[in-house]
Amino acid sequence: MDSPKLPIYLAPLQGYTEAAYRNAHTISFGGIAEYYTPFVRYEKEGFRNKDVREILPINNRVPQLRVQLFANDATKAEAILKLFIEHDHHKVDINMGCPFPMLAKRHNGSGILPYPDEVKALLEVVSKYPEIDFSVKMRLGWENPNEWKALMPILNDTPLTQITLHPRIGKQQYKGEVNLEAFEEFANACRHPLIYNGDVNTLEDMARIADRFKGISGLMIGRGLLANPALALEYQEDRKLSEEEFRRRLLQLHQEVLNQYTQQIEGGEAQLLNKMKTFWEYAGMAINSKVAKRIQKSRHMDSYLQEIRNI
Ligand SMILES: Cc1cc2nc3c(=O)[nH]c(=O)nc-3n(C[C@H](O)[C@H](O)[C@H](O)COP(=O)(O)O)c2cc1C
Repeated sequence: MDSPKLPIYLAPLQGYTEAAYRNAHTISFGGIAEYYTPFVRYEKEGFRNKDVREILPINNRVPQLRVQLFANDATKAEAILKLFIEHDHHKVDINMGCPFPMLAKRHNGSGILPYPDEVKALLEVVSKYPEIDFSVKMRLGWENPNEWKALMPILNDTPLTQITLHPRIGKQQYKGEVNLEAFEEFANACRHPLIYNGDVNTLEDMARIADRFKGISGLMIGRGLLANPALALEYQEDRKLSEEEFRRRLLQLHQEVLNQYTQQIEGGEAQLLNKMKTFWEYAGMAINSKVAKRIQKSRHMDSYLQEIRNI
């Protein structure tokens, strides 16, 4: 008998899984339990306009959205939460995984993981806002894959809906192997529903992870889904899409993304073209490689659209 299907979560990727992409993906492919937004920060100057625009309800058409906050203390976290609440978002993920050294050195993202007291202070917002459904997305540590151990009592005591673990350390960025042994140890210690994230690119990877970690409550996929937007759908429906169906849905995804960016981008053709090339950085792996290269080389919308017709 087939084992029951796990829910699939779209990972947040700054610059890639923007509202335009999420809205388009849900109607062209779907299969996603929750779309996580890339993180929203609060700096001295306040919010970036783009971050606010990206979470406005009017710009978001996926029914299952989880917005992500990025803060190294409770004051900043609360400022971001107020923005989320103002715009009627009640599912919030707390980022404790971002590996960028410039941000991590100020104890943001995975940079907070070596400091249990700071994690505890940050997570105090969870009890303060009982109307919000909170989750955490994290790594094993910043420079040592055992740092999570000191955090586990805090995490277990915090009323979270789920934790997503990407079993690398921050210093690895996205290099090296994922540490599956450490994931297993974490899973055994964690009392919350746990989602696996990292380097899942194929249906085989999904089956392998689901089989190895029987207790997990979901898979979160980022780059693998951008490269094959059908992955979650194929997994949920237990079928490989025909070439024709895949092409039809991919062109629909592309058209929807293009329509939204055409409305949104005010900087003219060059900026629109750049944005669409970003879309194809990963999605290009799903099409003929020569066409993908020509897309990246196109200098005007006309020639770009001509290449799209060659897909
Ligand atoms: C360009 C890029 C941007 C990312 N932005 C975010 C982000 O805003 N928030 C977050 O929690 N993770 C972010 N991540 C990490 C991904 O969500 C995910 O954890 C990572 O890519 C591993 O999963 P994957 O192998 O399925 O892609 C980003 C990753 C990349 C490559």
